[in-house]
Amino acid sequence: MKVYRANIIYAPTPDKLEIVPHGYISVRSSGIIEGVYAKKPAKTAWRQVIDLGDKLLIPAFNDLHVHAPQYRNMGLALDLELLPWLNTYTFPEEAKYADTTYAQRMYRRFIHDLWMQGTMRSAVFGTMHAESTRILADLFVQAGMGAYVGLVGMNRNSPDNLRNTTDDVIEGLEMLRKHLEKHGKDGLVRPIITPRFIPSCTPDMLQALGQYAAQTGMPVQSHLSENRSEIAWVAELEPESTSYGDAYNRYGLFGQTPTLMAHCCYTDGEELELMKRNGVYVVHCPMSNSNLSSGIAPIRRFLDEGMHVALGTDISAGHNLSMLNAMRYAMQVSKLRYAESRGALRFLSLSEVLYLATKAGGSFFGKVGSFEHGYEFDALVIDDSYLNYDNYTLEQRLERYIYLGDDRDIRRRFCRGVELTEPVY
Ligand code: GUN
Ligand code: FE
Repeated sequence: MKVYRANIIYAPTPDKLEIVPHGYISVRSSGIIEGVYAKKPAKTAWRQVIDLGDKLLIPAFNDLHVHAPQYRNMGLALDLELLPWLNTYTFPEEAKYADTTYAQRMYRRFIHDLWMQGTMRSAVFGTMHAESTRILADLFVQAGMGAYVGLVGMNRNSPDNLRNTTDDVIEGLEMLRKHLEKHGKDGLVRPIITPRFIPSCTPDMLQALGQYAAQTGMPVQSHLSENRSEIAWVAELEPESTSYGDAYNRYGLFGQTPTLMAHCCYTDGEELELMKRNGVYVVHCPMSNSNLSSGIAPIRRFLDEGMHVALGTDISAGHNLSMLNAMRYAMQVSKLRYAESRGALRFLSLSEVLYLATKAGGSFFGKVGSFEHGYEFDALVIDDSYLNYDNYTLEQRLERYIYLGDDRDIRRRFCRGVELTEPVY
Protein backbone atom coordinates (compact mmCIF):
# COMPACT_ATOMS: atom_id res chain seq x y z
CA MET A 1 0.00 0.00 0.00
CA LYS A 2 1.16 3.51 -0.86
CA VAL A 3 -0.37 6.59 0.71
CA TYR A 4 -0.03 10.10 -0.74
CA ARG A 5 -0.94 13.36 0.98
CA ALA A 6 -1.82 16.38 -1.18
CA ASN A 7 -4.63 18.73 -2.17
CA ILE A 8 -6.80 16.17 -3.90
CA ILE A 9 -9.16 17.33 -6.67
CA TYR A 10 -11.24 15.18 -9.02
CA ALA A 11 -14.55 15.19 -10.87
CA PRO A 12 -16.65 12.08 -10.09
CA THR A 13 -19.64 13.71 -11.81
CA PRO A 14 -19.76 16.49 -14.45
CA ASP A 15 -21.42 19.02 -12.18
CA LYS A 16 -19.32 18.85 -9.05
CA LEU A 17 -15.65 18.83 -8.10
CA GLU A 18 -14.55 16.71 -5.16
CA ILE A 19 -11.94 18.73 -3.25
CA VAL A 20 -10.04 17.35 -0.23
CA PRO A 21 -7.50 19.85 1.17
CA HIS A 22 -4.37 18.09 2.44
CA GLY A 23 -6.17 14.80 2.05
CA TYR A 24 -4.88 11.25 1.82
CA ILE A 25 -5.23 8.74 -0.99
CA SER A 26 -4.29 5.09 -0.49
CA VAL A 27 -3.27 2.95 -3.45
CA ARG A 28 -2.87 -0.84 -3.39
CA SER A 29 0.26 -2.41 -4.87
CA SER A 30 -1.93 -3.45 -7.84
CA GLY A 31 -2.31 0.28 -8.63
CA ILE A 32 -5.97 0.33 -7.58
CA ILE A 33 -7.23 3.11 -5.32
CA GLU A 34 -8.50 2.02 -1.92
CA GLY A 35 -9.90 5.38 -0.92
CA VAL A 36 -9.58 9.12 -0.33
CA TYR A 37 -9.64 10.44 3.25
CA ALA A 38 -9.78 13.92 4.75
CA LYS A 39 -7.98 12.70 7.90
CA LYS A 40 -5.34 10.06 8.36
CA PRO A 41 -6.97 6.85 9.62
CA ALA A 42 -5.05 4.82 12.16
CA LYS A 43 -4.09 1.83 10.02
CA THR A 44 -0.89 -0.14 10.26
CA ALA A 45 -0.58 -0.37 6.49
CA TRP A 46 -0.23 3.40 6.53
CA ARG A 47 3.15 3.58 8.26
CA GLN A 48 4.66 5.64 5.47
CA VAL A 49 2.88 8.63 3.96
CA ILE A 50 4.37 10.30 0.88
CA ASP A 51 3.77 13.96 1.59
CA LEU A 52 3.40 16.07 -1.56
CA GLY A 53 3.13 19.29 0.44
CA ASP A 54 0.82 21.98 -0.91
CA LYS A 55 0.73 20.56 -4.45
CA LEU A 56 -2.44 19.57 -6.29
CA LEU A 57 -3.16 15.92 -7.07
CA ILE A 58 -5.55 15.43 -10.01
CA PRO A 59 -6.44 12.48 -12.25
CA ALA A 60 -4.20 12.19 -15.32
CA PHE A 61 -5.60 13.20 -18.71
CA ASN A 62 -7.09 10.90 -21.34
CA ASP A 63 -6.87 11.90 -25.01
CA LEU A 64 -9.50 9.93 -26.92
CA HIS A 65 -8.58 11.05 -30.44
CA VAL A 66 -5.06 11.71 -31.64
CA HIS A 67 -3.04 10.97 -34.82
CA ALA A 68 0.54 9.99 -33.89
CA PRO A 69 1.90 10.20 -37.49
CA GLN A 70 0.77 13.81 -37.82
CA TYR A 71 3.21 14.83 -35.06
CA ARG A 72 5.64 16.56 -37.42
CA ASN A 73 2.86 18.75 -38.84
CA MET A 74 1.73 20.04 -35.46
CA GLY A 75 1.24 23.80 -35.59
CA LEU A 76 1.57 23.83 -39.37
CA ALA A 77 -0.67 23.79 -42.41
CA LEU A 78 -3.95 24.92 -40.90
CA ASP A 79 -5.06 27.11 -43.81
CA LEU A 80 -7.41 24.61 -45.47
CA GLU A 81 -10.62 22.78 -44.65
CA LEU A 82 -10.69 19.04 -43.95
CA LEU A 83 -10.71 17.41 -47.40
CA PRO A 84 -8.03 19.55 -49.12
CA TRP A 85 -6.09 19.57 -45.82
CA LEU A 86 -5.92 15.76 -45.90
CA ASN A 87 -4.79 15.63 -49.54
CA THR A 88 -2.35 18.51 -49.41
CA TYR A 89 -0.62 18.13 -46.06
CA THR A 90 -1.66 15.05 -44.13
CA PHE A 91 -1.52 12.14 -46.56
CA PRO A 92 2.00 13.07 -47.82
CA GLU A 93 3.27 13.14 -44.21
CA GLU A 94 1.62 9.82 -43.30
CA ALA A 95 3.12 8.18 -46.41
CA LYS A 96 6.58 8.72 -44.86
CA TYR A 97 5.73 6.08 -42.24
CA ALA A 98 6.48 3.34 -44.76
CA ASP A 99 9.99 4.00 -43.44
CA THR A 100 10.22 2.38 -39.99
CA THR A 101 13.33 4.42 -39.10
CA TYR A 102 11.37 7.62 -39.65
CA ALA A 103 8.44 6.16 -37.69
CA GLN A 104 10.69 5.21 -34.78
CA ARG A 105 12.22 8.71 -34.66
CA MET A 106 8.92 10.60 -34.81
CA TYR A 107 6.94 8.24 -32.59
CA ARG A 108 9.56 8.56 -29.82
CA ARG A 109 9.02 12.30 -29.82
CA PHE A 110 5.25 11.86 -29.89
CA ILE A 111 5.29 9.51 -26.87
CA HIS A 112 7.62 11.83 -24.98
CA ASP A 113 5.31 14.77 -25.63
CA LEU A 114 2.20 12.85 -24.50
CA TRP A 115 4.03 11.93 -21.27
CA MET A 116 5.12 15.54 -20.84
CA GLN A 117 1.53 16.79 -21.20
CA GLY A 118 0.28 14.38 -18.54
CA THR A 119 -1.78 12.26 -20.92
CA MET A 120 -1.56 8.76 -19.51
CA ARG A 121 -4.13 7.07 -21.76
CA SER A 122 -4.99 7.71 -25.36
CA ALA A 123 -6.86 6.35 -28.37
CA VAL A 124 -4.40 6.75 -31.20
CA PHE A 125 -4.44 6.51 -34.97
CA GLY A 126 -1.22 5.15 -36.49
CA THR A 127 -0.98 4.84 -40.26
CA MET A 128 -1.84 2.06 -42.73
CA HIS A 129 1.68 0.63 -42.18
CA ALA A 130 1.52 -2.40 -39.87
CA GLU A 131 5.19 -2.47 -38.91
CA SER A 132 5.35 1.23 -37.99
CA THR A 133 2.13 0.88 -36.02
CA ARG A 134 3.64 -2.04 -34.07
CA ILE A 135 6.62 0.22 -33.26
CA LEU A 136 4.18 2.84 -31.95
CA ALA A 137 2.46 0.24 -29.75
CA ASP A 138 5.82 -0.97 -28.40
CA LEU A 139 6.84 2.58 -27.49
CA PHE A 140 3.64 2.93 -25.43
CA VAL A 141 4.45 -0.35 -23.68
CA GLN A 142 8.02 0.81 -22.93
CA ALA A 143 6.75 4.14 -21.58
CA GLY A 144 4.20 2.41 -19.32
CA MET A 145 1.34 4.47 -20.75
CA GLY A 146 -2.08 3.14 -21.70
CA ALA A 147 -3.31 3.24 -25.29
CA TYR A 148 -5.60 1.85 -27.90
CA VAL A 149 -3.44 1.80 -31.02
CA GLY A 150 -5.10 1.79 -34.43
CA LEU A 151 -3.76 0.38 -37.67
CA VAL A 152 -5.57 2.61 -40.17
CA GLY A 153 -7.64 1.04 -42.95
CA MET A 154 -7.78 3.06 -46.18
CA ASN A 155 -8.22 1.67 -49.71
CA ARG A 156 -9.95 4.37 -51.77
CA ASN A 157 -9.78 8.12 -52.42
CA SER A 158 -6.25 8.08 -51.10
CA PRO A 159 -2.83 8.44 -52.77
CA ASP A 160 -1.42 5.25 -54.33
CA ASN A 161 1.37 5.10 -51.77
CA LEU A 162 -1.08 5.32 -48.87
CA ARG A 163 -3.51 2.46 -49.43
CA ASN A 164 -3.73 -0.98 -47.92
CA THR A 165 -6.03 -3.88 -48.74
CA THR A 166 -8.71 -5.45 -46.60
CA ASP A 167 -6.43 -8.46 -46.09
CA ASP A 168 -3.55 -6.18 -45.03
CA VAL A 169 -5.68 -4.56 -42.33
CA ILE A 170 -7.07 -7.80 -40.93
CA GLU A 171 -3.63 -9.45 -40.94
CA GLY A 172 -2.06 -6.36 -39.39
CA LEU A 173 -4.68 -6.21 -36.63
CA GLU A 174 -4.19 -9.92 -35.92
CA MET A 175 -0.43 -9.39 -35.73
CA LEU A 176 -0.92 -6.48 -33.30
CA ARG A 177 -3.43 -8.41 -31.22
CA LYS A 178 -1.11 -11.42 -30.82
CA HIS A 179 1.90 -9.19 -30.23
CA LEU A 180 0.17 -7.20 -27.48
CA GLU A 181 -1.46 -10.26 -25.90
CA LYS A 182 1.99 -11.18 -24.60
CA HIS A 183 1.51 -8.48 -21.97
CA GLY A 184 -1.50 -10.31 -20.51
CA LYS A 185 -5.21 -9.68 -20.70
CA ASP A 186 -4.85 -6.57 -18.53
CA GLY A 187 -2.14 -5.11 -20.76
CA LEU A 188 -2.18 -1.31 -20.94
CA VAL A 189 -1.76 -1.25 -24.73
CA ARG A 190 -4.32 -2.81 -27.06
CA PRO A 191 -5.28 -2.69 -30.72
CA ILE A 192 -8.37 -0.90 -32.01
CA ILE A 193 -10.12 -1.26 -35.39
CA THR A 194 -9.58 2.00 -37.30
CA PRO A 195 -11.27 2.57 -40.65
CA ARG A 196 -10.05 6.12 -41.42
CA PHE A 197 -13.55 7.35 -42.39
CA ILE A 198 -16.21 6.27 -44.89
CA PRO A 199 -14.67 8.11 -47.90
CA SER A 200 -11.34 6.24 -47.39
CA CYS A 201 -12.78 2.70 -47.17
CA THR A 202 -14.67 0.60 -49.71
CA PRO A 203 -17.84 -1.21 -48.61
CA ASP A 204 -15.83 -4.42 -48.82
CA MET A 205 -13.26 -3.19 -46.29
CA LEU A 206 -15.91 -1.77 -43.96
CA GLN A 207 -17.83 -5.06 -44.09
CA ALA A 208 -14.73 -7.08 -43.23
CA LEU A 209 -13.79 -4.77 -40.35
CA GLY A 210 -17.32 -5.02 -38.95
CA GLN A 211 -17.10 -8.80 -39.09
CA TYR A 212 -13.69 -8.73 -37.43
CA ALA A 213 -15.13 -6.56 -34.63
CA ALA A 214 -17.95 -9.06 -34.11
CA GLN A 215 -15.50 -12.01 -34.02
CA THR A 216 -12.95 -10.45 -31.67
CA GLY A 217 -14.94 -7.91 -29.63
CA MET A 218 -12.25 -5.39 -30.51
CA PRO A 219 -13.27 -1.72 -30.14
CA VAL A 220 -13.59 0.69 -33.08
CA GLN A 221 -12.58 4.30 -33.70
CA SER A 222 -13.22 6.62 -36.63
CA HIS A 223 -14.40 10.07 -37.71
CA LEU A 224 -18.03 11.21 -37.99
CA SER A 225 -19.85 14.30 -39.29
CA GLU A 226 -16.84 16.59 -38.97
CA ASN A 227 -17.26 18.88 -42.00
CA ARG A 228 -20.15 19.78 -44.32
CA SER A 229 -18.36 18.75 -47.56
CA GLU A 230 -17.36 15.43 -45.99
CA ILE A 231 -20.96 14.71 -44.97
CA ALA A 232 -22.24 15.50 -48.49
CA TRP A 233 -19.59 13.18 -49.96
CA VAL A 234 -20.58 10.33 -47.64
CA ALA A 235 -24.22 10.76 -48.69
CA GLU A 236 -23.09 10.27 -52.33
CA LEU A 237 -20.89 7.28 -51.53
CA GLU A 238 -23.51 5.56 -49.36
CA PRO A 239 -26.84 6.43 -51.01
CA GLU A 240 -28.72 3.68 -49.13
CA SER A 241 -27.73 5.04 -45.72
CA THR A 242 -30.05 7.46 -43.96
CA SER A 243 -27.18 9.23 -42.18
CA TYR A 244 -23.38 9.12 -41.94
CA GLY A 245 -23.70 7.23 -38.66
CA ASP A 246 -26.15 4.80 -40.25
CA ALA A 247 -23.48 3.94 -42.84
CA TYR A 248 -21.07 2.79 -40.10
CA ASN A 249 -23.93 1.02 -38.36
CA ARG A 250 -24.80 -1.02 -41.46
CA TYR A 251 -21.27 -2.39 -41.44
CA GLY A 252 -21.36 -3.21 -37.70
CA LEU A 253 -18.95 -0.42 -36.83
CA PHE A 254 -21.19 1.75 -34.67
CA GLY A 255 -21.35 0.50 -31.10
CA GLN A 256 -21.56 -3.25 -31.84
CA THR A 257 -18.25 -3.17 -29.92
CA PRO A 258 -17.13 -0.12 -27.85
CA THR A 259 -16.85 2.71 -30.38
CA LEU A 260 -15.29 6.18 -30.51
CA MET A 261 -16.43 8.68 -33.14
CA ALA A 262 -14.44 11.90 -33.37
CA HIS A 263 -16.06 15.30 -34.03
CA CYS A 264 -19.86 14.93 -34.52
CA CYS A 265 -20.11 18.67 -35.29
CA TYR A 266 -23.33 18.13 -37.26
CA THR A 267 -24.76 15.08 -35.50
CA ASP A 268 -28.47 15.34 -34.79
CA GLY A 269 -31.77 13.60 -35.52
CA GLU A 270 -31.49 9.93 -36.41
CA GLU A 271 -27.69 9.86 -36.14
CA LEU A 272 -27.85 11.19 -32.60
CA GLU A 273 -30.53 8.68 -31.62
CA LEU A 274 -28.48 5.83 -33.08
CA MET A 275 -25.36 6.91 -31.19
CA LYS A 276 -27.36 7.13 -27.98
CA ARG A 277 -28.99 3.76 -28.49
CA ASN A 278 -25.70 2.06 -29.37
CA GLY A 279 -23.65 3.80 -26.66
CA VAL A 280 -21.22 5.27 -29.20
CA TYR A 281 -18.80 7.84 -27.72
CA VAL A 282 -18.61 11.36 -29.13
CA VAL A 283 -15.00 12.53 -29.03
CA HIS A 284 -15.05 16.31 -29.00
CA CYS A 285 -11.98 17.89 -30.63
CA PRO A 286 -12.54 21.65 -30.33
CA MET A 287 -8.98 22.68 -31.29
CA SER A 288 -9.24 20.71 -34.52
CA ASN A 289 -12.76 21.94 -35.27
CA SER A 290 -11.58 25.54 -34.86
CA ASN A 291 -8.37 25.12 -36.88
CA LEU A 292 -10.04 23.39 -39.85
CA SER A 293 -13.10 25.69 -39.71
CA SER A 294 -15.23 22.57 -39.27
CA GLY A 295 -17.89 23.79 -36.88
CA ILE A 296 -18.88 23.72 -33.20
CA ALA A 297 -20.22 20.43 -31.90
CA PRO A 298 -23.36 20.76 -29.73
CA ILE A 299 -21.75 19.17 -26.67
CA ARG A 300 -24.36 20.53 -24.26
CA ARG A 301 -27.03 18.73 -26.26
CA PHE A 302 -25.05 15.46 -26.20
CA LEU A 303 -24.54 15.73 -22.44
CA ASP A 304 -28.22 16.53 -21.84
CA GLU A 305 -29.11 13.45 -23.91
CA GLY A 306 -26.94 11.36 -21.59
CA MET A 307 -24.47 10.37 -24.31
CA HIS A 308 -20.86 9.37 -23.70
CA VAL A 309 -18.66 12.37 -24.49
CA ALA A 310 -14.85 12.51 -24.26
CA LEU A 311 -12.17 14.98 -25.37
CA GLY A 312 -9.41 14.68 -27.95
CA THR A 313 -6.57 16.86 -29.22
CA ASP A 314 -6.72 15.41 -32.77
CA ILE A 315 -3.22 16.55 -33.67
CA SER A 316 -2.26 17.81 -36.19
CA ALA A 317 -5.66 19.30 -37.02
CA GLY A 318 -5.43 20.18 -33.35
CA HIS A 319 -2.22 22.17 -32.90
CA ASN A 320 -0.79 20.62 -29.77
CA LEU A 321 -1.01 17.63 -27.44
CA SER A 322 -2.09 19.58 -24.38
CA MET A 323 -5.35 18.37 -22.87
CA LEU A 324 -5.37 21.61 -20.87
CA ASN A 325 -5.68 23.35 -24.21
CA ALA A 326 -8.44 20.96 -25.31
CA MET A 327 -10.32 21.83 -22.08
CA ARG A 328 -9.90 25.58 -22.67
CA TYR A 329 -11.10 25.31 -26.26
CA ALA A 330 -14.04 23.14 -25.17
CA MET A 331 -15.17 25.86 -22.76
CA GLN A 332 -14.53 28.68 -25.20
CA VAL A 333 -16.21 27.20 -28.28
CA SER A 334 -19.17 26.20 -26.09
CA LYS A 335 -19.53 29.87 -25.20
CA LEU A 336 -19.56 30.83 -28.88
CA ARG A 337 -22.23 28.20 -29.50
CA TYR A 338 -24.10 29.52 -26.45
CA ALA A 339 -24.06 33.01 -27.97
CA GLU A 340 -25.07 31.73 -31.40
CA SER A 341 -27.94 29.72 -29.93
CA ARG A 342 -28.99 32.80 -27.92
CA GLY A 343 -28.45 30.97 -24.68
CA ALA A 344 -30.28 27.76 -25.64
CA LEU A 345 -27.15 25.59 -25.37
CA ARG A 346 -25.58 26.36 -21.98
CA PHE A 347 -21.78 26.60 -22.09
CA LEU A 348 -19.51 24.06 -20.40
CA SER A 349 -18.28 24.59 -16.85
CA LEU A 350 -14.83 23.95 -15.42
CA SER A 351 -15.95 20.80 -13.62
CA GLU A 352 -17.55 19.53 -16.82
CA VAL A 353 -14.39 19.89 -18.88
CA LEU A 354 -12.25 18.32 -16.15
CA TYR A 355 -14.76 15.45 -16.05
CA LEU A 356 -14.56 15.07 -19.86
CA ALA A 357 -10.75 15.08 -19.86
CA THR A 358 -10.48 12.54 -17.02
CA LYS A 359 -13.37 10.28 -15.99
CA ALA A 360 -15.51 10.45 -19.15
CA GLY A 361 -12.61 9.56 -21.46
CA GLY A 362 -11.13 7.19 -18.89
CA SER A 363 -14.29 5.08 -18.88
CA PHE A 364 -13.27 3.73 -22.30
CA PHE A 365 -10.27 2.08 -20.58
CA GLY A 366 -12.15 0.69 -17.57
CA LYS A 367 -12.18 2.27 -14.10
CA VAL A 368 -9.89 5.12 -15.05
CA GLY A 369 -9.98 8.89 -14.58
CA SER A 370 -11.33 9.29 -11.06
CA PHE A 371 -10.05 8.84 -7.49
CA GLU A 372 -13.02 6.80 -6.34
CA HIS A 373 -12.59 3.43 -4.65
CA GLY A 374 -11.63 0.73 -7.16
CA TYR A 375 -10.27 3.13 -9.81
CA GLU A 376 -6.79 2.74 -11.28
CA PHE A 377 -4.41 5.34 -9.85
CA ASP A 378 -3.64 7.55 -12.89
CA ALA A 379 -2.57 10.87 -11.44
CA LEU A 380 -0.63 14.10 -11.88
CA VAL A 381 1.13 16.06 -9.17
CA ILE A 382 0.88 19.77 -10.01
CA ASP A 383 3.10 22.49 -8.60
CA ASP A 384 1.16 25.71 -9.16
CA SER A 385 3.07 27.68 -6.50
CA TYR A 386 4.04 30.43 -8.99
CA LEU A 387 0.33 30.97 -9.74
CA ASN A 388 -0.73 30.77 -6.11
CA TYR A 389 0.57 34.04 -4.63
CA ASP A 390 -2.56 35.15 -2.81
CA ASN A 391 -5.42 33.57 -0.90
CA TYR A 392 -6.82 31.46 -3.72
CA THR A 393 -9.18 28.63 -2.86
CA LEU A 394 -8.37 25.16 -4.19
CA GLU A 395 -11.15 25.52 -6.74
CA GLN A 396 -9.63 28.80 -7.93
CA ARG A 397 -6.18 27.19 -8.05
CA LEU A 398 -7.57 24.45 -10.31
CA GLU A 399 -9.27 27.04 -12.51
CA ARG A 400 -6.05 29.04 -12.86
CA TYR A 401 -4.05 25.90 -13.54
CA ILE A 402 -6.46 24.86 -16.31
CA TYR A 403 -6.37 28.31 -17.93
CA LEU A 404 -2.78 29.36 -17.20
CA GLY A 405 -0.78 26.24 -16.46
CA ASP A 406 1.24 23.98 -18.73
CA ASP A 407 3.29 20.79 -18.76
CA ARG A 408 6.14 22.37 -16.78
CA ASP A 409 3.89 22.42 -13.71
CA ILE A 410 3.50 18.64 -13.71
CA ARG A 411 6.03 17.25 -11.24
CA ARG A 412 5.06 13.57 -11.16
CA ARG A 413 2.96 11.29 -13.34
CA PHE A 414 1.36 7.98 -12.42
CA CYS A 415 -0.31 5.39 -14.62
CA ARG A 416 -2.04 2.45 -12.90
CA GLY A 417 -0.12 3.23 -9.70
CA VAL A 418 3.32 3.27 -11.33
CA GLU A 419 5.29 6.50 -11.44
CA LEU A 420 6.43 7.04 -15.03
CA THR A 421 9.89 8.39 -15.73
CA GLU A 422 10.66 10.53 -18.76
CA PRO A 423 10.71 8.40 -21.94
CA VAL A 424 13.87 8.51 -24.08
CA TYR A 425 13.47 10.41 -27.36
N1 GUN B 1 -10.96 12.51 -41.35
C1 GUN B 1 -10.27 11.53 -41.97
N2 GUN B 1 -8.97 11.57 -41.65
C2 GUN B 1 -8.82 12.58 -40.79
C3 GUN B 1 -7.69 13.13 -40.11
O1 GUN B 1 -6.55 12.68 -40.22
N3 GUN B 1 -7.93 14.20 -39.30
C4 GUN B 1 -9.17 14.74 -39.15
N4 GUN B 1 -9.33 15.79 -38.33
N5 GUN B 1 -10.24 14.24 -39.79
C5 GUN B 1 -10.06 13.19 -40.60
FE1 FE C 1 -8.84 12.83 -36.49
